[in-house]
Amino acid sequence: MQTANDIRRLFLDYFKREGHEIVPSSPLVPRNDPTLMFTNAGMVQFKNVFTGQEKRDYVRAVTAQKCVRAGGKHNDLENVGYTARHHTFFEMLGNFSFGDYFKDRAIELAWRLVTQEYGLAKGKLLVTVFSEDDEAFNLWRKIAGLPESKIIRIPTSDNFWAMGDTGPCGPCSEIFYDHGEGIPGGPPGSPDAEGDRFIEIWNLVFMQYEQVTKEQRVNLPRPSIDTGMGLERLAAVLQGKHDNYDIDLMRALIEASAEASKTDPDGPDKVSHRVIADHLRSSAFLIADGVLPSNEGRGYVLRRIMRRAMRHAHQIGCTEPLMWRLVPALVQQMGQAYEELVRAQPVITETLKLEETRFKQTLGAGLKELEAAVSSGSGLTKDGKLSGAVAFQLSDSRGFPLDLTQSILRDRGIEVDVDGFNVELEKQRERSRAAWAGSGEAATEAVWFDLKQRLGATDFLGYATEQAEGQVTALLKSGAEVQSAKQGDEIAIITNQTPFYGEAGGQIGDTGAFVSATGAIIEIADTHRKVGDLFVHYGKVTKGEIKVGDAVEMKVDGKRRTTLRAHHSATHLLHEALRRQLGAHVTQKGSLVAPDRLRFDFSHTKAMTPEDIAAVEREVNDRIRANAAVETHLMTPQAAIEAGAMALFGEKYGDEVRVVSMGGKVANENKVFSTELCGGTHVRRTGDIGLFKIVSEGAVGAGVRRIEAVTGAAAEAYVAEQQRLLNEAASALRTLPSDLTQRIASLLEERKRLERELMEARKAAAAGGAGAGPASKQINGVTLAARLLDGVPAKELKGMADEIKRQIGSGVVALVAVAEGKASLVVGVTDDLTKRLNAVELVKVGSAALGGQGGGGRPDMAQAGGPDASRANEALAAIERAIGAGAKAAE
Ligand code: ALA
Repeated sequence: MQTANDIRRLFLDYFKREGHEIVPSSPLVPRNDPTLMFTNAGMVQFKNVFTGQEKRDYVRAVTAQKCVRAGGKHNDLENVGYTARHHTFFEMLGNFSFGDYFKDRAIELAWRLVTQEYGLAKGKLLVTVFSEDDEAFNLWRKIAGLPESKIIRIPTSDNFWAMGDTGPCGPCSEIFYDHGEGIPGGPPGSPDAEGDRFIEIWNLVFMQYEQVTKEQRVNLPRPSIDTGMGLERLAAVLQGKHDNYDIDLMRALIEASAEASKTDPDGPDKVSHRVIADHLRSSAFLIADGVLPSNEGRGYVLRRIMRRAMRHAHQIGCTEPLMWRLVPALVQQMGQAYEELVRAQPVITETLKLEETRFKQTLGAGLKELEAAVSSGSGLTKDGKLSGAVAFQLSDSRGFPLDLTQSILRDRGIEVDVDGFNVELEKQRERSRAAWAGSGEAATEAVWFDLKQRLGATDFLGYATEQAEGQVTALLKSGAEVQSAKQGDEIAIITNQTPFYGEAGGQIGDTGAFVSATGAIIEIADTHRKVGDLFVHYGKVTKGEIKVGDAVEMKVDGKRRTTLRAHHSATHLLHEALRRQLGAHVTQKGSLVAPDRLRFDFSHTKAMTPEDIAAVEREVNDRIRANAAVETHLMTPQAAIEAGAMALFGEKYGDEVRVVSMGGKVANENKVFSTELCGGTHVRRTGDIGLFKIVSEGAVGAGVRRIEAVTGAAAEAYVAEQQRLLNEAASALRTLPSDLTQRIASLLEERKRLERELMEARKAAAAGGAGAGPASKQINGVTLAARLLDGVPAKELKGMADEIKRQIGSGVVALVAVAEGKASLVVGVTDDLTKRLNAVELVKVGSAALGGQGGGGRPDMAQAGGPDASRANEALAAIERAIGAGAKAAE
């Protein structure tokens, strides 16, 4: 059997032999097209190569492209699990010619691959062509030798492929496989073409035109080829299966799901296993490419996919989270072809586990609520739909996305009143708007809301200029609107347009000054954006009087802005350098761009090694020195949609979608180093950033790391300070900075030696003259050597006591060592005396005096401790008294 992995490999190798460059799959989050929700075809990464906007080192390419179709226009989510060929995630195999070969060679290569390499029987194949494309018709006859009956002309747009309303397009030709008479369905173009008998396996697009506007279509610089073949479909045909979910790869995931849930893969839970297998793939690949579940944009699509699968896991009886346990099976199947899966395995596992654990907390209750609403009929509308209010309540408090509720009810043939749901959503917006009308800060927010309604958005001019004229449209003092303000007043000031950047996307607001035509001066200390794009300047009138309606000359503090630009651009380079060093799972989780530093939070589970940090710093500085121009492309959301966008996630960027690219071309990749959707302000060329230096790296939360860094003058100041500290340290040690480490090492070595010597000396001093002298006394005929030792570690005491015992021959040794306010006590009794004097008892007496409890050992050697070191002398005195008493008693 040809496994899915074999089939993918064969495709890539075949086209490589035919002079094609094997290009890796681009990420699911398109890098060159931030207007597209997810990569949904192989040609996405080559969009600009077809139109001639971008040049590559090669003119032929082959890819196995990971694709997601969920959310947005191409949405297969609802059907997954129920049909043989719907997926949210699939792989598209494709070969591409950029102005190199065209129709004849494309047909020849495709025909040879399917019939000779994959070994499909010619008699089982038929093709379609665009009805006007006689050339393709004739080529199929000539090259494939197909009879005319098996070359079907399709007059509809089905055989004219376009990326969107605009963009590269052209007629196409599709190869179909006939599963035979046993299966219902007619050939393409016939009324029952939707049946399962004839399955399209490969689409060859003859890219010939570029749709510039809806009306205008021009020829591409050179005719090109774009093809797409779904790996799962092809594998089904080659493995003699009828259903994509029966191929080896999908089957392995389904079986893993069945095994982990202890259910039958083909029994009543069959649909659930298919949903789980499919959604596991899309979830894991999306997470590997940096998407994390959230309540908006791409993150919300991911959350919907995950929750749909998790509800199925719940339905088949899993009481514990299931999805994360299937990750090893997925990595085993696909990790070799997509190493990002292996790299991101920990993040994928953790994310799935966390989401399922959290969702489980509300899932059961939500399902019960839904069941009650349906079975009692109380939650149904007159026409039998689930009411919008119930659906909204489930979404708002149980975390059931609308489409999850829809999918749960699907089996029972119940629809959801979506209009009603939207009404509830609108009501909620109204409620939150009303909540603003409270007091304090909230009241001010409501003021902005009203101002925005009345004045409209502020026109931001600050990308192009740092100085401009504007007209004062509103003034606020202590949160309330006023008509004028005079010297000394602290105000918020709004103008119809502004060059001042309002804090957003991590970049903090501009400062500067306004000067009115009448000579009033307002020093601006900060600028914010409210309710999206209402720019509010905060400042103080330092001279004259300012009125609503006045014209003002507005000047941004240019020096400060320059350093803000540098830190913001460095953030983009840092982001990409981190992805390259640590993997594509790295995504921005927050940032701060200030004039003197930057902070960048990103998803990553481990601390970076010093080598990682050095490599990232090096990469960023290399890119800075490359000094290529930073490019910004502007598109209206409308233009972006027309350019093929399936969905936009850029609403918060206002009327224009800004795409910022920098860092220059990357060798052998034919792409610009960094491309991001960004509303911030940037340097002209990366060289303007100057030196980049990472100051710290640490954790800020589960799976999120933070880097702090500095650029330009701030980086130089940082390096100078490090240098100064180094010099200071070196001169304190009377050496050169270059010899500092060696000097420190030898000092440490010397210190160790001195400590050792000191210890020996103390021990010797303690033991010395033990037999006689003032430290030894006779108590009723018993020799007592009692010592108070300072700075001798407790562990040395026993050895010393033994030594002194040896020296005195017969008697008692009592040693107290004091360290860090605590006392340790050892009592030794020579063997000849142990019948009369027990070391354990003596040590207990001493320990009690030290505020300790007991102690232990043998009659000839015992040890204890006590917290009150200040009573060390009393302890020795107590032992002395006890010996006196003990010796007497024995006499
Ligand atoms: N771009 C073509 C498709 O997606 C091959 O079908």
